[in-house]
Amino acid sequence: MQETVAFSIPALRIGSHTLPNAVILAPMAGITDAPVRRMAVRYGAGLVISEMVASEALLEGHPEMVLRAEGEGVPLHAVQIAGNDPYLMGEAARVAEAAGAGIIDINMGCPAKRVTTGAAGAALLRDLPLARAILEAVRGAVSVPVTVKTRLGWDDAASTAVDLARMAQESGLAMVTIHGRTRCQFYTGRADWAAIRAVKDAVSIPVIANGDVVAPSDGPAILEASGADGVMIGRGAQGRPWFPGRVARAIAGLRGTADPDLDEQRAVLLELYEGWLGLYGRALGVRQARKHVGWALDAAAAGTGEVRASIVAGWRKRLLVLEDPAQVKAGIAAAFDDIMWRAAA
Ligand SMILES: Cc1cc2nc3c(=O)[nH]c(=O)nc-3n(C[C@H](O)[C@H](O)[C@H](O)COP(=O)(O)O)c2cc1C
Repeated sequence: MQETVAFSIPALRIGSHTLPNAVILAPMAGITDAPVRRMAVRYGAGLVISEMVASEALLEGHPEMVLRAEGEGVPLHAVQIAGNDPYLMGEAARVAEAAGAGIIDINMGCPAKRVTTGAAGAALLRDLPLARAILEAVRGAVSVPVTVKTRLGWDDAASTAVDLARMAQESGLAMVTIHGRTRCQFYTGRADWAAIRAVKDAVSIPVIANGDVVAPSDGPAILEASGADGVMIGRGAQGRPWFPGRVARAIAGLRGTADPDLDEQRAVLLELYEGWLGLYGRALGVRQARKHVGWALDAAAAGTGEVRASIVAGWRKRLLVLEDPAQVKAGIAAAFDDIMWRAAA
């Protein structure tokens, strides 16, 4: 298994922290859990951020939120909090800092109805006074750097990210990440990398560009289009925890940006599988792992051309109904053998 890779690319500073490179694994609820974050770091991600943690649930010690905020095994632990009550957000940040968080990230970009109808996430793009109160409350509650992640605006008519970024800088925040879509776009269309430039031009704190980075060459491209200081990667890393590190290499102009060979991919998946069983326990772990196994097979089958969809569908059907972890692991090994054989055929 590969060791942590140090890159000679421009360092990214977030307050008192200097990251090894400027490529960040995005927070993705239900996906970028602690095993995935550790693996992404091992493969060279410059920073990983916890899944969104609801502030009230964290304060109540809700077990899922405590799991989400777990930071063991990563050199710098960033916890993302979500909510709409400045006081509770500040308290949640305090709890996360006390539990070892070295960075607190505030979610002001989540488009999900259940989040925005509670006036949290992207809904804060429509209530900048409340957004400011939250930024200031969180900044005042902790001594570690505070960052914010948001979108371009609520809809096409409102490009609020510039105002929000200025506000973040005035409130003492250390970095702002912009997903190049509006809330109303959810995940449709293409992320508008060039539109992020207006935010970069408006503030002096680091600006991170996010959205649709799915190939190593997208890393240099999004930086060029946006002028941003770094890149954040979400769905491109699903089933490919090595991908942020590969993008960092591409930005640095280094070779070795291809996916690892299939033996290594299989070893990564089996190690993650143990991680999920350990983190969630057997019953929940088996279920939680299923989507990742599907994505990992998809990534592995990328070299099999046109038959890819049918191969992956066949293995998904067989593997994703199993309840016994030993059978799943044996099935993963067999699936990779099959994919290797077909890729070589
Ligand atoms: C399933 C899923 C869960 C997500 N959860 C979060 C979250 O908890 N916090 C957050 O700020 N963004 C969340 N996002 C948004 C991503 O962090 C990212 O901004 C978005 O996917 C665009 O980047 P990408 O094109 O690289 O995926 C989530 C996205 C997906 C697809």
